[in-house]
Amino acid sequence: MIALEGIVKRFGALTALDGVDLTVERGTVHAVVGENGAGKTTLMGVLGGIVAADAGTVSLDGEPVRIASVEDAYAHGIGMVHQHFRLFRRLTVAENVVMGREPRRRGGYDHAAAEALVDELGRAHGLRVDPRARVGELSVGDQQRVELLRALHRAADVLILDEPTAVLTPQEAEGLFGVMRELAGQGRTVLFISHKLREVLTVSDTVTVLRRGSVTGVRRASETDERELAGLMVGRAIESAYQAPDTPAGEPVLRLEALTARGLKPLDLEVSAGEIVGVAGVAGNGQTELAEAIAGLRPREGGTLTIAGRALSDATVAQRREAGLAHIPEDRYARGLAREATIAENLLMGTHRRRFRLDRRAMNARARELVEAFDVRAGDVGDRAATLSGGNAQKLVIARELAGEPAVVLACQPTRGVDIGAAEFVHAQLRAARDRGAGVLLISADLDELLALADRIVVLYEGALVGESRDEAELGLLMAGAHA
Ligand SMILES: Nc1ncnc2c1ncn2[C@@H]1O[C@H](COP(=O)(O)OP(=O)(O)O)[C@@H](O)[C@H]1O
Ligand SMILES: [Mg+2]
Repeated sequence: MIALEGIVKRFGALTALDGVDLTVERGTVHAVVGENGAGKTTLMGVLGGIVAADAGTVSLDGEPVRIASVEDAYAHGIGMVHQHFRLFRRLTVAENVVMGREPRRRGGYDHAAAEALVDELGRAHGLRVDPRARVGELSVGDQQRVELLRALHRAADVLILDEPTAVLTPQEAEGLFGVMRELAGQGRTVLFISHKLREVLTVSDTVTVLRRGSVTGVRRASETDERELAGLMVGRAIESAYQAPDTPAGEPVLRLEALTARGLKPLDLEVSAGEIVGVAGVAGNGQTELAEAIAGLRPREGGTLTIAGRALSDATVAQRREAGLAHIPEDRYARGLAREATIAENLLMGTHRRRFRLDRRAMNARARELVEAFDVRAGDVGDRAATLSGGNAQKLVIARELAGEPAVVLACQPTRGVDIGAAEFVHAQLRAARDRGAGVLLISADLDELLALADRIVVLYEGALVGESRDEAELGLLMAGAHA
C-alpha cells in the first residue's frame, strides 16, 4: 500500500493541498481526478520527490518514508511521467531511457547493450519504440512511451502518469490504457491523473477526487459514474440545460453587412442586445477568420461592420474596444494573455492607455476584486499569468473582457480545453452578460455548448453563413454542407 496522510502544501497565500489523504493499493490503477488547479500535480509531486510538503507523511507498505528528491522516489520504486515531457530531443530513444543509468563496457557507454535493454523492456511491457530513433523525430505517443520506458528502466514499481492522454490521439490513448492495465496485472501500481471522467472510468479500479486541495470522495470505478464524479469535482450538480432569456432581445449591437475578408464570403449577420448568437461549424470553415474580421485583426475586403451603432469597418482593434467590443480569443495564450506579465497587469491590459500614470496599488486592488469576482484561483495578483492552470487562465481573460460591461462580446471557443467546473462558470458569465443586455456572438466547435447557451445558432460552412437552426440534426446537416 501507498499511503499519503495529511499532506499540506502552500504556495505563498495559496493552499494547494489542505490535508490530503490518499491510499493506493498495489497492483491497481488508481485515478486522481479534479478540475484544473485542484492540486493533482502538486500531490503527485509530493510522492514523486518533486514537491516538498509542508506537513503530512508518506508511507509505503506501512513504513514511513522520506522522499526529498526524484532520486529518493526512484530508490523507493516510484517514477513520474510528467505532463510536459522531459526528454532530450536530439538523443536516441535508448540514450534517453538509460540516461544516468547507462550500461557500460570498457569504461564507456555501451550502445548495443542499451539498445538491447530498451528492446527487451519494450517487449515486456507492450511499449515498442525503435531504440535508435531520435526522440525529436517521434510522434508524441511514442515520446510518451519513451518516458514510460525510462521510468520502468529505473525500476519503478509505482508509475505516476500526469494527464498522459492530453497530448494523445484517441487511438494512442487506447493503447496507453492497455499498457496501464497490463502493468497493474504484473503487480505494478499506476497513478493516473486526469480530468476526463470517461477515460478514468474505463481504465481505473479506484478514483480519488480532489477539489481545491481537499479530497471530496473516493470511489470504486465500478460503483460510480461520470455524473457523480463531476459533482464531486465541482461540489454541486452540473447545470447544462438551455435557459432562455427573461426579456426579448433589443436593438442590434453588432451588424455585419456583406462583410468580407480573406477566407470569408460576404456575410450578413446581426446580434442584438440581450441575445446570444451561436456560430456552429466544423473547425476550419472560417471561424477564426470571422472572429479576426470582427475583432479588427484581419483587414476587411468589402462590406461594413457596425458595433453599438458606430460604423467601424476599418477601425483599429483599440477603436473597436473603445466602442464596446470585448474579445475572448480562441487561443488564450497566444492572444488572450501575456504569460510573463503579472495577473494584475493582464487584467489592466487594453485599458492601460487611458491612464496617465500607473497606480500600482490601485491596479492590484482592482485585480484582487476581479480575481475574487471571477473565481480565478491564483496565488497572488503579482504572480505571472504563466502560473495559472488552463481554466484559471481562461477565467482571467473573461474577467478582463467582461469587467467593463461591454456592449458586444465576441467569445471564441471559450471553454476549449478547460474542465467542467470552469466551463460551467464561463457559461454562467456569458449568460449573465446577455441578461444585462450585451449581445454575445459565441463561436464554438462544441455543438452541446451552443445548444446549451445560444438563443439562435447560425452555421458557417466554407466561409459562408449557410443557415440558422436550433435543431441538432438540422445543424449537423448544415455543418456538413447539406444546404446545397
Ligand atoms: N510552483 C507553484 N507556485 C505557485 N503556485 C503553484 C505552483 N504549482 C502549483 N501552484 C498552484 O497550486 C494549485 C494546484 O496546482 P496543480 O497541482 O498544478 O493543480 P492540477 O494539477 O490539479 O491542475 C493551483 O492553484 C496552482 O496555480
Ligand atoms: Mg496538473
